[in-house]
Amino acid sequence: MEKYLVELNGISKRFPGVVALDNVSFNLRAGEVHALLGENGAGKSTLMKIIGGIYQKDDGTVKIRGKTEEYSSVGEAAALGIAVIHQELNMCRHLTVAENIFLGREIEKFGVVDFKAQNEQTANILSDLGLDFSPDTVVDKLPVSKQQMVEIAKALSTNADIIIMDEPSSSLTERETEELFRIIGDLKSKGKGIIYISHRLEELERITDRITIMRDGKYIKTMNFKDTTIEEIISLMVGREITEKYPHEDVKRGNKIMEVKNLSTAHVDNVSFELFAGEIIGFAGLVGAGRTELVRAIFGVDRITDGEVIVFDKSVKLKSPRDAIKAGIVCAPEDRKKEGLLIKLNISENIALANLDTIANRIGIISSKKEKDLTKKAIKELRIKTPSSRQEVKNLSGGNQQKIVVGKWLVRNAKVVIFDEPTRGIDVAAKVEIYNLMNKLKKQGIGVMFVSSELPEVLGMSDRIIVMCAGRITGDMQRSEATQEKIMELATKFQAEVIE
Ligand SMILES: Nc1ncnc2c1ncn2[C@@H]1O[C@H](COP(=O)(O)OP(=O)(O)OP(=O)(O)O)[C@@H](O)[C@H]1O
Ligand SMILES: [Mg+2]
Repeated sequence: MEKYLVELNGISKRFPGVVALDNVSFNLRAGEVHALLGENGAGKSTLMKIIGGIYQKDDGTVKIRGKTEEYSSVGEAAALGIAVIHQELNMCRHLTVAENIFLGREIEKFGVVDFKAQNEQTANILSDLGLDFSPDTVVDKLPVSKQQMVEIAKALSTNADIIIMDEPSSSLTERETEELFRIIGDLKSKGKGIIYISHRLEELERITDRITIMRDGKYIKTMNFKDTTIEEIISLMVGREITEKYPHEDVKRGNKIMEVKNLSTAHVDNVSFELFAGEIIGFAGLVGAGRTELVRAIFGVDRITDGEVIVFDKSVKLKSPRDAIKAGIVCAPEDRKKEGLLIKLNISENIALANLDTIANRIGIISSKKEKDLTKKAIKELRIKTPSSRQEVKNLSGGNQQKIVVGKWLVRNAKVVIFDEPTRGIDVAAKVEIYNLMNKLKKQGIGVMFVSSELPEVLGMSDRIIVMCAGRITGDMQRSEATQEKIMELATKFQAEVIE
C-alpha cells in the first residue's frame, strides 16, 4: 500500500447550522502539488484547518506519513511537519516582518529574544524568495501582496514537508506569482508535498499534478490534472454547466454622471475621464499602476492634491468616504479585512451599516424590518452561503465574505459604483453572479468603475476600457477596439517607472 504524506478518511465537521464537511477523503504524496478545488463554501479551508490543527474533526481519521495521529493545536501540527499559509492574512500588523516570522518560536539568547539572529535568518529567507524589503519593516507598511509573501516566507521557514497554500496567489503581482511558482517547483523537487487551493483555474496548469474536487462539503473526485480539462473541472465543481462566462449586455449610454478632471494625488498623475449612465468602465493595468489609488481618491480616502471630481455638473469636495457616499459614490474596496468589512459583526449588521441613511429614520432609529429586507435581498441575489443573516462574517468562507463587501452597497441607491478587484477569491459561478449584478446596476442608469487585474474579465465585461501605468492614463478605448495585446502594451508603457 502506498504511504502518503497525508491521508484523510471519512472526515466530517459540523458548525451550528452548517455541515462543512461530510465524509471527505483526501491524500497527498511526497513531491506533488495536489490542488483542492470547489466553489465558495465547499469546505476547502475547513479541511485544511483540520490538517493544520486549527479545527478539530468530528469524525474520520488523519494519517500523517502512514501513522494515525490525533492532535488539536497548531503547535502539534507544526511538530508533525505541517505548515499552513492561510487564505486570510494572519499577521500582527504592528510587528516587524522578522517578528512575525518567528512569532511563538522566538530565537532566544540568555533568556531574551535575539532580534539580531531573527533578522539575519529572515533576511536569508527573504532573499531566497527574491523579496527586497528589510526584515525590520513593520508589516502594516507593506502592500497586501508583500504581506502575503511574508505569510509564505513564514511557512517555509519552519522546514515543513507538508505545505498547505490556501489561495496564496489571489493578491500577488504577476512577478510574485512567478516567484511563487518557482518556489513551489523547488519544494516539489525536494520531495515536499503541497496542497494548493485556488480559484484561478488557468494557473493550475503550471504547477498541478493531481486535483481533488469538493462540492457542498462532499468529496466529488480526484484526477490527474493531465487527464482532465478546465471545462470538466468547472462542471464538477458547480454541478451544472456554466453557459456564459462573461455575460456582457449592451445598454444605451445615458447622460454624463461623473467627470474626473486633471486629478492628482501622491500616486496619481493628472488623470481625466468621464463616466456615463449605463456604462461600465474597466480599469486595466499591472498591480501598482495606480488604479486602487485613483479609486481611493474618488472615494475620499486619499488626499487629492490637484484637479477635481464633478458629479452631475457639480464639483464635489471629497475629504472622506462620507462625502463620497453623500455625492452618490460608493466603493467595494480591495482589502476586505482592513476596509471592506467589520468581521466581528454579523451579515445583517454589515449591510445595515452601509445603508444607515436608508434604513434609519430621521432621529436615527433603525427599522429592523428594512434591515431584514435588505439583508435578505443581498443574501438571495448573491447566493451568499450562510445558515442565517445573523452569522458573524468571520465564520463565512473567504469568497462569501467577499460577496458581502460587494453586496452591502448593491442594495443602496448610488450613482457611481466602484468595484476594486470584486472577484478576487470568488468561484466561477459566483463571478457570473457579480457580473450580472454589474449589468443590473448599469441597466438602472448607474455608472460603474471596475478595477481588475484579470484581463479576460475586463475585456469580457467592460463597455469602455481605461489603461493605467505608473499613475497615469495610457489608453482609453471602446470595447470594440480593445485587445489583450493593445492593453498589455499600454499597461507597460512606462515599464521602468512602474512602482510595485
Ligand atoms: N468557524 C466557523 N463557524 C461557522 N461556520 C463555519 C466556520 N468555518 C467555516 N464555516 C462554514 O463552513 C462552510 C465551509 O467553509 P470553508 O471556509 O471551508 O469554504 P471554502 O471552500 O474554503 O470556501 P472559499 O472558496 O470561499 O474560501 C461554509 O458554509 C462556512 O460558512
Ligand atoms: Mg477558503
